[in-house]
Amino acid sequence: MKIINVKDYEEMSQQACSMLLDVIRNEIKPVLGLATGSTPEGLYQHLIEKYNEQKVSFQETTTFNLDEYVGLDRHDPNSYRFFMNEKLFNHVNIPEENTHVPSGIAPDPNQECYDYEQLIQEADRIDVQVLGLGLNGHIGFNEPGTPFNSRTHVVALDESTRQANARFFDSINDVPTQAITMGIETIMESKSIILLVSGEKKAEPLARLVYGEISEDFPASILQKHENVTIIADEAACANL
Ligand code: GLP
Repeated sequence: MKIINVKDYEEMSQQACSMLLDVIRNEIKPVLGLATGSTPEGLYQHLIEKYNEQKVSFQETTTFNLDEYVGLDRHDPNSYRFFMNEKLFNHVNIPEENTHVPSGIAPDPNQECYDYEQLIQEADRIDVQVLGLGLNGHIGFNEPGTPFNSRTHVVALDESTRQANARFFDSINDVPTQAITMGIETIMESKSIILLVSGEKKAEPLARLVYGEISEDFPASILQKHENVTIIADEAACANL
């Protein structure tokens, strides 16, 4: 794993942006794996700026998001589809049909997982997958205990994850209890991975990811086995390295 230690959130976002731009410019039909959460927001702002400066086009880009809450539709401000539209897709020239986020309101969530996985397989590869890091080591919504060989599936969210994400909702009771997430094996098949880590709260999970044993108890530890992972982490997050 390559670790790039940057000063702060802004520098992390800039570095991630330039890495994604390389992929978008150099691949003929780039396929990006995208993440939600607070961490990649700055990256998306930078991508929009580059688009506005006419330094990049998303016309040929396809995207797959990691996850979505079960029960929230695309118009719900807390859905990850809404987040992606607001934070990136609505502001660049990516064709809507090229953007993929699992549906949170599919009548049969397991079928939705299967279909989503098929779409990823049909795209043939994800050139670069952006990841954030959950406090309990989750990636996407793969909570501790998720088998490393999992594909896209429905998960029950950990109480700690619901608490961590409650800040976006009116109350903890509104935080969904389930989500659809790309599986760990699906994520590991990406050609390259950029993991973004910012802030002191992430110092402990980041150290465990880098130095800890590879275990399903801490899903992000599997990244030690991927051949092309770049961790971009700010000073606060690197405190325990
Ligand atoms: C959520 C998302 C993850 C994200 C994580 C960290 O649970 N499902 O994909 O990486 O939270 O979020 P944040 O970046 O806000 O710390």
